[in-house]
Amino acid sequence: MALIIDGKKISADIKDELKKEVEELQKKGIQITLAVVQVGNDSASSVYVGNKKKACAYVGIHSLAYELPESTSEAELLSLVNKLNQDPAVNGILVQLPLPKHIDENKVIRTISPAKDVDGFHPQSVGALSIGQKGFVSCTPAGIIELLKRSGIAIEGKECVIIGRSNIVGKPMAMLMLRENATVTICHSRTKNLKEVTKRADILIVAIGKAKFITKDYVKDGAVIIDVGMNRDENNKLCGDVDYADVLPKVSAITPVPGGVGPMTIAMLMNNCVQSVR
Ligand code: GUN
Repeated sequence: MALIIDGKKISADIKDELKKEVEELQKKGIQITLAVVQVGNDSASSVYVGNKKKACAYVGIHSLAYELPESTSEAELLSLVNKLNQDPAVNGILVQLPLPKHIDENKVIRTISPAKDVDGFHPQSVGALSIGQKGFVSCTPAGIIELLKRSGIAIEGKECVIIGRSNIVGKPMAMLMLRENATVTICHSRTKNLKEVTKRADILIVAIGKAKFITKDYVKDGAVIIDVGMNRDENNKLCGDVDYADVLPKVSAITPVPGGVGPMTIAMLMNNCVQSVR
């Protein structure tokens, strides 16, 4: 029987641990504040931002919401980020992506102070991770490490194959798995003989954005499958990048969609906010 990795339960445990830590900090007079900036009203972004604010309220982190119109100029957004950088009462800054096309995302990310970069997107945060120094780590890959550790899945010495090379998931994931002493391979859209590579994986992490792409033919017997995908299937039901029902009989552990990796991202964002004052 495969272990179904319960991301909802693990993320709730983490938020409860953080809530206690925040209560202790508050007793010492330390209050944590996260500034959440959204430009425009993309509906998916509004849902994410709403969930982040809710998680802050639960854990005891003060959140400041900046909801700016779509017409906000790059200069106006950079000026707000600079103001938040300089505000000693603000511990973390999160600018929800994607931004409207007339704003250079990289410029905005580079403007956020690395000391307040709770998303872990700043080049300094990414660089620190790659050379094993302290810094904020991107929330989804950090959440996957927690899922594995709290499920008792050993990482050291394992063959880990990651499909997807995004800056937010694939690349930082590879660095984290390397830090945990896995042997790491990154695959992407130009990888030849993908199945041959993925069948080597003891731990297969899938972040490609294609519904049910990974079937049992891609998977070794007894593998651990981490599904980062969030798609709609032919019946408009949420599903991952992995064909869950097809691979389930073959695997030793798997994350469901929904209820696997998804809830971990916000739990790790809360962790990064607490990290900013630790
Ligand atoms: N858009 C989708 N995911 C994320 C995230 O983790 N952080 C930010 N800032 N924007 C996002």
